[in-house]
Amino acid sequence: MTVGLFDTHTPMQPLMDEVKAAIERVVASGKYILGPEVSAFEREFAEYCGAGYGVGVANGTDAITIALRAMGIGPGDEVVVPSFTFYASAEAIPPTGATPVFCDIDPDTYCVTADTVRAALTPRTKAVIAVHLFGNVAPVAEIEALGVPVLEDAAQAAGSVSPAGRPGALGSAATWSYFPSKNLGCMGDGGMITTSDEQIAERARTLRFHGSHDKVTYEQVGYNSRLDELQAAILRVQLPHLDAWADGRRAAGEHYERAGLGELAKLPRPTAGAEPAWHLYVVSHSEVERLEGALAGAGIGHKAYYRTPIHRQAAMRAWGEGLSLPGTDEAARTHLAIPMSPVLTRAQAEEVVAAMRAAST
Ligand SMILES: Cc1ncc(COP(=O)(O)O)c(C=O)c1O
Repeated sequence: MTVGLFDTHTPMQPLMDEVKAAIERVVASGKYILGPEVSAFEREFAEYCGAGYGVGVANGTDAITIALRAMGIGPGDEVVVPSFTFYASAEAIPPTGATPVFCDIDPDTYCVTADTVRAALTPRTKAVIAVHLFGNVAPVAEIEALGVPVLEDAAQAAGSVSPAGRPGALGSAATWSYFPSKNLGCMGDGGMITTSDEQIAERARTLRFHGSHDKVTYEQVGYNSRLDELQAAILRVQLPHLDAWADGRRAAGEHYERAGLGELAKLPRPTAGAEPAWHLYVVSHSEVERLEGALAGAGIGHKAYYRTPIHRQAAMRAWGEGLSLPGTDEAARTHLAIPMSPVLTRAQAEEVVAAMRAAST
């Protein structure tokens, strides 16, 4: 048996008739852009998160740029962002005119903390992007207590919960990606902004539509960035199953623990009280190459997602040069994602752990 890094196929199989019916419904309607499916999904997803409004956009990267602008961020401002995350978390900042300021993470949780954010604050800081990395939940309230607005990058955290509520309703606004491999993934690109701030929602709605309310008058230079009807219809079929899928991801994490993975590598630690719907199950090890070799030899999926953190990427040189982020460097050097999905079985988890055990003996 080989175990893939993801399994996006199996959980969707029981839903395929419903998905096909949803696609046929949209095709029959002839309405493809900003129609009833997008409006309904915006409502349903915002409600799922516990937020007041949802604004569907084309992808999770646009969602960040648009949300920041809707929060009033622009030229001359600084936005604090972790360096250990997917590149888009930071890439989305310069198009607003603001400057990314990289902060460190806690290498045990892979998330920013109030302390790592505090170290990056200046009088020009106008927002912090708290990334709920790998499905863990960043401490949004503690960061807000520093006196800065928080934009949650929740792209990897659909289905996660925390004592303060679900990602998507913890900060001023939150951004989502429905990229196919995400916990809630569509069949193409898609994204969303959730917020309970009516003004932010209204600005985002205008920005995604060329900066216009009516496509006749243009108040701002905006974007053509919409979630489309087909993707929204597909996501509406999936949303009722998200919590069960999240439970499956948590159960997979428990299978790993019971199989003794903690003796072989450092396990990801949930932040205080959080129940992450692990998007990626990321362990760390000081000699991670040995684990990579063993897993490759056994035909088991694995991936180091962020070996080069963003502040060391060429495109970010202007903002990253000379920075010292020790937690980021440690995580970048030692992390490794191993198989995770809502349907990962105990036998599969045991096989992964056996392969890793063989590497350490
Ligand atoms: C943490 C994070 N932020 C932002 C994005 C960007 O989303 P998208 O690929 O939909 O633009 C992703 C996913 O790809 C992500 O994982």
